[in-house]
Amino acid sequence: FDAIEVIRAKRDGHELSREQIDWVVDAYTREVVADEQMSALAMAIFLNGMQRREIAEWTNAMIASGERMDFSGLTAPDGRRLETSDKHSTGGVGDKITLPLAPLVASYGVAVPQLSGRGLGHTGGTLDKMESIPGWRAELSNEEMMRQLGEVGAVVCAAGSGLAPADKRLYALRDVTGTVEAIPLIASSIMSKKIAEGTGTLVLDVKCGSGAFMKDESMARELARTMVDLGRDAGVNTTALLTDMSVPLGLTAGNALEVRESVEVLAGGGPADVVELTVELARHMLAGAGVTGVDPAENLANGKAMDVWNAMISAQGGDPKAALPTAKHTETVTAEADGVLTELDAMAVGLAAWRLGAGRERQGQPVQFGAGVELHARPGDEVRAGQPVMTLHTDTPERFERARAALAGGWTVEQADAERAAALRGRS
Ligand code: URA
Repeated sequence: FDAIEVIRAKRDGHELSREQIDWVVDAYTREVVADEQMSALAMAIFLNGMQRREIAEWTNAMIASGERMDFSGLTAPDGRRLETSDKHSTGGVGDKITLPLAPLVASYGVAVPQLSGRGLGHTGGTLDKMESIPGWRAELSNEEMMRQLGEVGAVVCAAGSGLAPADKRLYALRDVTGTVEAIPLIASSIMSKKIAEGTGTLVLDVKCGSGAFMKDESMARELARTMVDLGRDAGVNTTALLTDMSVPLGLTAGNALEVRESVEVLAGGGPADVVELTVELARHMLAGAGVTGVDPAENLANGKAMDVWNAMISAQGGDPKAALPTAKHTETVTAEADGVLTELDAMAVGLAAWRLGAGRERQGQPVQFGAGVELHARPGDEVRAGQPVMTLHTDTPERFERARAALAGGWTVEQADAERAAALRGRS
Protein backbone atom coordinates (compact mmCIF):
# COMPACT_ATOMS: atom_id res chain seq x y z
CA PHE A 1 0.00 0.00 0.00
CA ASP A 2 0.89 3.60 -0.12
CA ALA A 3 -0.76 6.54 1.61
CA ILE A 4 -1.96 8.20 -1.57
CA GLU A 5 -3.83 5.07 -2.65
CA VAL A 6 -5.64 4.87 0.72
CA ILE A 7 -6.46 8.60 0.69
CA ARG A 8 -7.82 8.37 -2.86
CA ALA A 9 -9.96 5.35 -2.01
CA LYS A 10 -11.67 7.18 0.87
CA ARG A 11 -11.81 10.45 -1.06
CA ASP A 12 -13.75 8.65 -3.80
CA GLY A 13 -16.21 7.16 -1.31
CA HIS A 14 -14.94 3.55 -1.18
CA GLU A 15 -14.83 1.32 1.89
CA LEU A 16 -11.31 0.74 3.16
CA SER A 17 -10.25 -2.89 3.56
CA ARG A 18 -8.97 -4.20 6.86
CA GLU A 19 -5.52 -4.49 5.35
CA GLN A 20 -5.55 -0.86 4.21
CA ILE A 21 -6.71 0.29 7.67
CA ASP A 22 -4.11 -1.78 9.54
CA TRP A 23 -1.39 -0.54 7.25
CA VAL A 24 -2.21 3.16 7.32
CA VAL A 25 -2.69 3.35 11.11
CA ASP A 26 0.53 1.43 11.73
CA ALA A 27 2.49 3.44 9.16
CA TYR A 28 1.23 6.71 10.65
CA THR A 29 2.30 5.59 14.14
CA ARG A 30 5.77 4.79 12.76
CA GLU A 31 5.84 8.20 11.02
CA VAL A 32 6.03 6.57 7.59
CA VAL A 33 2.75 8.27 6.71
CA ALA A 34 3.17 12.02 7.21
CA ASP A 35 0.88 14.39 9.09
CA GLU A 36 -0.26 16.07 5.87
CA GLN A 37 -1.27 12.70 4.43
CA MET A 38 -3.17 11.71 7.57
CA SER A 39 -4.86 15.14 7.55
CA ALA A 40 -6.12 14.47 4.04
CA LEU A 41 -7.33 11.00 5.01
CA ALA A 42 -9.04 12.36 8.15
CA MET A 43 -10.84 14.94 5.98
CA ALA A 44 -11.89 12.22 3.52
CA ILE A 45 -13.26 10.14 6.44
CA PHE A 46 -14.96 13.26 7.78
CA LEU A 47 -16.66 13.89 4.43
CA ASN A 48 -17.44 10.33 3.34
CA GLY A 49 -17.89 8.46 6.64
CA MET A 50 -17.12 4.85 7.47
CA GLN A 51 -19.14 1.65 7.75
CA ARG A 52 -19.40 0.01 11.19
CA ARG A 53 -16.92 -2.64 10.06
CA GLU A 54 -14.39 0.01 9.11
CA ILE A 55 -14.87 1.84 12.43
CA ALA A 56 -14.33 -1.40 14.40
CA GLU A 57 -11.21 -2.22 12.39
CA TRP A 58 -9.87 1.34 12.68
CA THR A 59 -10.42 1.18 16.46
CA ASN A 60 -8.63 -2.17 16.68
CA ALA A 61 -5.73 -0.83 14.63
CA MET A 62 -5.40 2.14 17.00
CA ILE A 63 -5.44 -0.22 20.01
CA ALA A 64 -2.81 -2.41 18.31
CA SER A 65 -0.60 0.66 17.75
CA GLY A 66 0.41 0.42 21.42
CA GLU A 67 0.16 -1.57 24.62
CA ARG A 68 -2.85 -2.61 26.68
CA MET A 69 -3.14 -2.14 30.41
CA ASP A 70 -4.54 -4.73 32.77
CA PHE A 71 -6.22 -3.78 36.03
CA SER A 72 -7.39 -7.28 36.88
CA GLY A 73 -4.87 -7.63 39.73
CA LEU A 74 -5.54 -4.20 41.23
CA THR A 75 -5.87 -4.19 45.02
CA ALA A 76 -6.46 -1.59 47.76
CA PRO A 77 -3.89 -1.20 50.61
CA ASP A 78 -6.02 -3.63 52.71
CA GLY A 79 -5.69 -6.29 49.99
CA ARG A 80 -9.29 -5.95 48.75
CA ARG A 81 -9.67 -6.45 44.98
CA LEU A 82 -10.66 -3.19 43.26
CA GLU A 83 -13.19 -2.84 40.47
CA THR A 84 -12.42 -0.15 37.89
CA SER A 85 -14.92 2.31 36.47
CA ASP A 86 -14.25 5.17 34.09
CA LYS A 87 -16.23 7.84 32.28
CA HIS A 88 -15.56 9.69 29.08
CA SER A 89 -17.30 12.72 27.68
CA THR A 90 -17.44 13.41 23.97
CA GLY A 91 -16.49 16.99 24.80
CA GLY A 92 -18.34 20.12 25.74
CA VAL A 93 -18.10 23.70 26.98
CA GLY A 94 -17.53 24.08 30.70
CA ASP A 95 -17.53 20.28 31.01
CA LYS A 96 -15.38 19.95 34.12
CA ILE A 97 -17.32 16.92 35.40
CA THR A 98 -14.31 14.57 35.50
CA LEU A 99 -12.70 16.72 38.21
CA PRO A 100 -15.29 16.20 40.94
CA LEU A 101 -16.48 12.85 39.55
CA ALA A 102 -13.25 10.82 39.70
CA PRO A 103 -12.61 11.46 43.43
CA LEU A 104 -16.33 11.09 44.20
CA VAL A 105 -16.54 7.59 42.71
CA ALA A 106 -13.23 6.60 44.32
CA SER A 107 -14.59 7.70 47.71
CA TYR A 108 -16.98 4.70 47.47
CA GLY A 109 -14.12 2.24 47.00
CA VAL A 110 -14.23 1.89 43.20
CA ALA A 111 -10.98 2.69 41.37
CA VAL A 112 -11.15 5.36 38.66
CA PRO A 113 -8.39 5.20 36.03
CA GLN A 114 -9.29 8.44 34.26
CA LEU A 115 -7.05 8.76 31.21
CA SER A 116 -7.85 12.18 29.83
CA GLY A 117 -7.13 14.43 26.92
CA ARG A 118 -6.31 18.03 26.11
CA GLY A 119 -8.61 20.63 24.62
CA LEU A 120 -10.07 19.77 21.26
CA GLY A 121 -11.37 22.64 19.12
CA HIS A 122 -13.74 24.84 21.11
CA THR A 123 -14.05 22.26 23.91
CA GLY A 124 -11.83 22.17 26.97
CA GLY A 125 -9.59 19.26 27.93
CA THR A 126 -9.29 17.78 31.41
CA LEU A 127 -5.48 17.73 31.33
CA ASP A 128 -5.25 21.42 30.40
CA LYS A 129 -7.57 22.21 33.31
CA MET A 130 -5.69 20.08 35.83
CA GLU A 131 -2.32 21.49 34.74
CA SER A 132 -3.42 24.89 35.96
CA ILE A 133 -2.94 23.49 39.51
CA PRO A 134 0.60 24.48 40.52
CA GLY A 135 2.98 21.50 40.40
CA TRP A 136 0.45 18.98 39.08
CA ARG A 137 1.88 16.48 36.62
CA ALA A 138 -0.20 14.84 33.86
CA GLU A 139 2.41 12.35 32.66
CA LEU A 140 2.67 9.23 34.81
CA SER A 141 4.35 5.92 34.06
CA ASN A 142 2.11 2.87 34.07
CA GLU A 143 3.66 1.81 37.39
CA GLU A 144 2.96 5.22 38.98
CA MET A 145 -0.60 5.09 37.73
CA MET A 146 -1.17 1.58 39.13
CA ARG A 147 0.32 2.52 42.49
CA GLN A 148 -1.82 5.66 42.78
CA LEU A 149 -4.95 3.78 41.78
CA GLY A 150 -4.38 1.25 44.55
CA GLU A 151 -3.40 3.81 47.20
CA VAL A 152 -5.61 6.82 46.41
CA GLY A 153 -8.31 5.19 44.29
CA ALA A 154 -8.40 7.82 41.55
CA VAL A 155 -5.97 9.03 38.95
CA VAL A 156 -6.46 11.60 36.21
CA CYS A 157 -3.53 11.50 33.81
CA ALA A 158 -2.43 11.52 30.19
CA ALA A 159 -2.55 8.18 28.44
CA GLY A 160 1.02 6.86 28.73
CA SER A 161 3.01 7.21 25.53
CA GLY A 162 2.55 3.48 24.98
CA LEU A 163 -1.25 3.54 24.99
CA ALA A 164 -2.97 4.07 21.61
CA PRO A 165 -0.10 6.23 20.28
CA ALA A 166 -1.89 6.44 16.93
CA ASP A 167 -4.73 8.32 18.62
CA LYS A 168 -2.33 10.60 20.40
CA ARG A 169 -0.96 11.85 17.08
CA LEU A 170 -4.28 11.85 15.27
CA TYR A 171 -6.09 13.69 18.09
CA ALA A 172 -3.62 16.59 17.98
CA LEU A 173 -3.82 16.65 14.20
CA ARG A 174 -7.64 16.71 14.12
CA ASP A 175 -7.67 19.57 16.62
CA VAL A 176 -6.04 21.88 14.08
CA THR A 177 -7.40 20.55 10.77
CA GLY A 178 -11.18 20.90 11.17
CA THR A 179 -11.67 17.13 11.33
CA VAL A 180 -13.02 16.63 14.83
CA GLU A 181 -16.78 16.30 14.35
CA ALA A 182 -16.98 12.90 12.66
CA ILE A 183 -18.59 9.82 14.24
CA PRO A 184 -15.95 7.31 13.01
CA LEU A 185 -13.08 9.50 14.23
CA ILE A 186 -14.61 10.37 17.61
CA ALA A 187 -15.83 6.81 18.32
CA SER A 188 -12.49 5.20 17.43
CA SER A 189 -10.51 7.87 19.29
CA ILE A 190 -12.41 7.45 22.54
CA MET A 191 -12.91 3.70 22.43
CA SER A 192 -9.36 2.79 21.40
CA LYS A 193 -8.06 4.55 24.53
CA LYS A 194 -10.69 3.11 26.84
CA ILE A 195 -10.37 -0.46 25.57
CA ALA A 196 -6.56 -0.31 25.69
CA GLU A 197 -6.76 1.17 29.18
CA GLY A 198 -8.63 -1.96 30.32
CA THR A 199 -11.33 -0.40 32.51
CA GLY A 200 -14.01 -2.85 33.70
CA THR A 201 -16.89 -0.36 33.41
CA LEU A 202 -17.19 2.63 31.12
CA VAL A 203 -19.89 5.30 31.23
CA LEU A 204 -20.01 7.53 28.17
CA ASP A 205 -21.38 11.03 28.46
CA VAL A 206 -22.44 11.77 24.90
CA LYS A 207 -23.02 15.47 24.51
CA CYS A 208 -25.70 16.85 22.23
CA GLY A 209 -26.39 20.46 21.24
CA SER A 210 -24.69 23.55 19.85
CA GLY A 211 -21.58 23.25 22.06
CA ALA A 212 -21.11 19.53 21.35
CA PHE A 213 -19.50 17.93 18.32
CA MET A 214 -22.87 16.28 17.64
CA LYS A 215 -25.45 19.03 17.19
CA ASP A 216 -28.56 16.93 16.77
CA GLU A 217 -29.96 14.10 18.79
CA SER A 218 -30.01 11.50 16.03
CA MET A 219 -26.27 11.98 15.42
CA ALA A 220 -25.52 11.87 19.16
CA ARG A 221 -27.55 8.66 19.43
CA GLU A 222 -25.67 7.13 16.51
CA LEU A 223 -22.33 8.04 18.13
CA ALA A 224 -23.49 6.56 21.46
CA ARG A 225 -24.69 3.35 19.80
CA THR A 226 -21.42 2.99 17.86
CA MET A 227 -19.29 3.42 20.99
CA VAL A 228 -21.42 1.15 23.19
CA ASP A 229 -21.18 -1.62 20.53
CA LEU A 230 -17.39 -1.18 20.27
CA GLY A 231 -17.03 -1.36 24.06
CA ARG A 232 -19.30 -4.36 24.58
CA ASP A 233 -17.64 -6.27 21.72
CA ALA A 234 -14.34 -5.74 23.55
CA GLY A 235 -15.75 -7.02 26.87
CA VAL A 236 -16.04 -3.60 28.57
CA ASN A 237 -19.29 -3.04 30.52
CA THR A 238 -20.29 0.08 28.56
CA THR A 239 -23.30 2.37 28.90
CA ALA A 240 -24.01 5.82 27.49
CA LEU A 241 -26.01 8.84 28.63
CA LEU A 242 -27.12 11.52 26.18
CA THR A 243 -26.82 14.91 27.90
CA ASP A 244 -27.53 18.48 26.88
CA MET A 245 -24.77 20.76 25.64
CA SER A 246 -26.78 23.62 24.17
CA VAL A 247 -25.86 25.76 27.21
CA PRO A 248 -22.42 25.66 28.92
CA LEU A 249 -22.16 23.49 32.02
CA GLY A 250 -21.91 25.55 35.17
CA LEU A 251 -20.70 29.14 35.26
CA THR A 252 -17.15 28.82 33.91
CA ALA A 253 -15.38 27.81 30.69
CA GLY A 254 -11.58 27.93 30.86
CA ASN A 255 -8.90 25.96 32.65
CA ALA A 256 -8.23 27.41 36.13
CA LEU A 257 -11.74 28.91 36.23
CA GLU A 258 -13.17 25.41 35.89
CA VAL A 259 -10.86 23.95 38.55
CA ARG A 260 -12.12 26.59 40.96
CA GLU A 261 -15.73 25.66 40.22
CA SER A 262 -14.98 21.93 40.57
CA VAL A 263 -13.48 22.51 43.99
CA GLU A 264 -16.69 24.34 44.95
CA VAL A 265 -18.65 21.22 43.94
CA LEU A 266 -16.31 19.03 45.99
CA ALA A 267 -16.89 21.37 48.93
CA GLY A 268 -20.62 20.65 48.73
CA GLY A 269 -21.58 23.77 46.73
CA GLY A 270 -21.26 24.73 43.06
CA PRO A 271 -23.81 25.18 40.28
CA ALA A 272 -26.82 22.84 40.36
CA ASP A 273 -26.34 21.50 36.82
CA VAL A 274 -22.72 20.48 37.49
CA VAL A 275 -23.67 18.79 40.76
CA GLU A 276 -26.62 16.99 39.16
CA LEU A 277 -24.60 15.57 36.26
CA THR A 278 -21.70 14.59 38.54
CA VAL A 279 -24.06 12.68 40.84
CA GLU A 280 -25.90 11.02 37.95
CA LEU A 281 -22.70 9.84 36.26
CA ALA A 282 -21.32 8.65 39.62
CA ARG A 283 -24.45 6.57 40.13
CA HIS A 284 -23.94 4.83 36.77
CA MET A 285 -20.20 4.31 37.31
CA LEU A 286 -20.80 2.82 40.75
CA ALA A 287 -23.68 0.61 39.58
CA GLY A 288 -21.50 -0.77 36.77
CA ALA A 289 -18.92 -1.74 39.39
CA GLY A 290 -21.55 -3.39 41.60
CA VAL A 291 -22.05 -0.57 44.14
CA THR A 292 -25.76 0.21 44.48
CA GLY A 293 -28.01 1.70 47.14
CA VAL A 294 -25.79 4.73 47.82
CA ASP A 295 -26.55 8.40 47.17
CA PRO A 296 -23.37 9.89 45.68
CA ALA A 297 -24.48 13.39 46.75
CA GLU A 298 -23.58 12.37 50.32
CA ASN A 299 -19.83 12.18 49.80
CA LEU A 300 -19.88 15.62 48.15
CA ALA A 301 -21.67 17.02 51.21
CA ASN A 302 -19.56 15.27 53.87
CA GLY A 303 -16.10 16.04 52.45
CA LYS A 304 -15.08 12.45 51.62
CA ALA A 305 -14.80 13.19 47.89
CA MET A 306 -12.74 16.30 48.72
CA ASP A 307 -10.33 14.15 50.78
CA VAL A 308 -9.73 11.92 47.73
CA TRP A 309 -9.29 15.01 45.52
CA ASN A 310 -6.61 16.41 47.83
CA ALA A 311 -4.80 13.06 47.94
CA MET A 312 -5.09 12.69 44.16
CA ILE A 313 -3.63 16.16 43.48
CA SER A 314 -0.78 15.71 46.00
CA ALA A 315 0.10 12.26 44.62
CA GLN A 316 0.77 13.90 41.24
CA GLY A 317 2.96 16.66 42.63
CA GLY A 318 0.24 19.30 42.86
CA ASP A 319 -0.55 21.56 45.77
CA PRO A 320 -4.32 21.44 46.36
CA LYS A 321 -4.10 24.50 48.62
CA ALA A 322 -2.09 26.69 46.22
CA ALA A 323 -3.72 29.73 44.61
CA LEU A 324 -4.82 29.05 41.04
CA PRO A 325 -3.49 31.20 38.20
CA THR A 326 -5.62 34.17 37.18
CA ALA A 327 -5.58 36.07 33.88
CA LYS A 328 -3.81 39.42 33.68
CA HIS A 329 -6.77 41.19 32.10
CA THR A 330 -10.54 41.02 32.42
CA GLU A 331 -13.44 42.73 30.68
CA THR A 332 -17.12 42.50 31.46
CA VAL A 333 -19.93 42.00 28.97
CA THR A 334 -23.02 43.84 30.19
CA ALA A 335 -26.73 43.74 29.41
CA GLU A 336 -28.02 46.65 27.34
CA ALA A 337 -31.54 46.57 28.74
CA ASP A 338 -33.54 45.07 31.58
CA GLY A 339 -34.96 41.63 30.86
CA VAL A 340 -34.42 37.90 31.13
CA LEU A 341 -31.44 36.00 29.70
CA THR A 342 -33.32 33.77 27.28
CA GLU A 343 -30.43 32.40 25.25
CA LEU A 344 -26.83 31.50 26.08
CA ASP A 345 -25.27 29.48 23.31
CA ALA A 346 -22.66 26.93 24.40
CA MET A 347 -20.80 27.13 21.08
CA ALA A 348 -20.48 30.93 21.29
CA VAL A 349 -19.11 30.70 24.84
CA GLY A 350 -16.76 27.85 23.88
CA LEU A 351 -15.40 29.79 20.91
CA ALA A 352 -14.93 32.89 23.06
CA ALA A 353 -12.99 30.92 25.70
CA TRP A 354 -10.86 29.33 22.97
CA ARG A 355 -10.09 32.73 21.44
CA LEU A 356 -9.25 34.21 24.84
CA GLY A 357 -6.46 31.61 25.03
CA ALA A 358 -8.03 28.70 26.93
CA GLY A 359 -7.44 26.44 23.87
CA ARG A 360 -4.92 26.08 21.06
CA GLU A 361 -4.73 27.34 17.50
CA ARG A 362 -1.65 25.32 16.55
CA GLN A 363 -0.38 21.89 17.61
CA GLY A 364 1.62 21.96 20.83
CA GLN A 365 0.87 25.61 21.65
CA PRO A 366 0.65 26.29 25.40
CA VAL A 367 -2.77 27.29 26.75
CA GLN A 368 -3.37 30.24 29.05
CA PHE A 369 -4.41 28.79 32.40
CA GLY A 370 -6.32 31.86 33.57
CA ALA A 371 -8.15 32.52 30.29
CA GLY A 372 -11.83 31.89 29.71
CA VAL A 373 -15.37 33.03 30.27
CA GLU A 374 -17.08 33.43 33.62
CA LEU A 375 -20.87 33.63 33.52
CA HIS A 376 -22.87 35.74 35.96
CA ALA A 377 -26.28 34.68 34.73
CA ARG A 378 -27.86 31.55 33.30
CA PRO A 379 -30.90 31.24 31.04
CA GLY A 380 -34.02 32.26 32.89
CA ASP A 381 -32.20 34.71 35.18
CA GLU A 382 -33.34 38.31 35.31
CA VAL A 383 -30.72 40.95 34.47
CA ARG A 384 -30.74 44.74 34.59
CA ALA A 385 -29.33 47.18 32.05
CA GLY A 386 -25.61 47.67 32.70
CA GLN A 387 -25.33 44.52 34.81
CA PRO A 388 -22.42 42.18 33.93
CA VAL A 389 -23.60 39.01 32.21
CA MET A 390 -20.11 37.60 31.69
CA THR A 391 -16.49 38.37 32.52
CA LEU A 392 -13.86 37.60 29.90
CA HIS A 393 -10.38 36.64 31.13
CA THR A 394 -7.12 36.64 29.15
CA ASP A 395 -3.41 37.43 29.45
CA THR A 396 -3.43 39.00 25.96
CA PRO A 397 -5.96 41.85 25.77
CA GLU A 398 -5.90 42.01 21.95
CA ARG A 399 -7.96 38.79 22.15
CA PHE A 400 -10.97 40.53 23.70
CA GLU A 401 -12.22 41.76 20.37
CA ARG A 402 -12.25 38.27 18.82
CA ALA A 403 -13.96 36.86 21.88
CA ARG A 404 -16.65 39.54 21.73
CA ALA A 405 -17.16 38.74 18.05
CA ALA A 406 -17.59 35.05 18.93
CA LEU A 407 -20.20 35.96 21.53
CA ALA A 408 -22.16 38.31 19.27
CA GLY A 409 -25.61 36.84 18.70
CA GLY A 410 -24.88 34.01 21.13
CA TRP A 411 -26.83 35.46 24.03
CA THR A 412 -30.12 37.34 24.29
CA VAL A 413 -31.71 39.48 26.97
CA GLU A 414 -35.37 40.21 26.31
CA GLN A 415 -38.72 40.59 27.99
CA ALA A 416 -40.10 37.26 29.18
CA ASP A 417 -42.85 36.38 31.64
CA ALA A 418 -42.25 34.49 34.87
CA GLU A 419 -43.50 31.21 33.37
CA ARG A 420 -41.04 31.31 30.47
CA ALA A 421 -38.18 32.33 32.79
CA ALA A 422 -38.94 29.39 35.09
CA ALA A 423 -39.07 27.00 32.11
CA LEU A 424 -35.67 28.28 30.92
CA ARG A 425 -34.17 27.86 34.38
CA GLY A 426 -35.50 24.31 34.50
CA ARG A 427 -33.96 23.46 31.14
CA SER A 428 -30.49 24.78 31.79
N1 URA B 1 -12.66 12.85 23.02
C1 URA B 1 -11.72 12.05 22.48
O1 URA B 1 -10.95 11.41 23.17
N2 URA B 1 -11.65 11.98 21.15
C2 URA B 1 -12.48 12.66 20.35
O2 URA B 1 -12.38 12.53 19.16
C3 URA B 1 -13.47 13.50 20.93
C4 URA B 1 -13.54 13.56 22.28
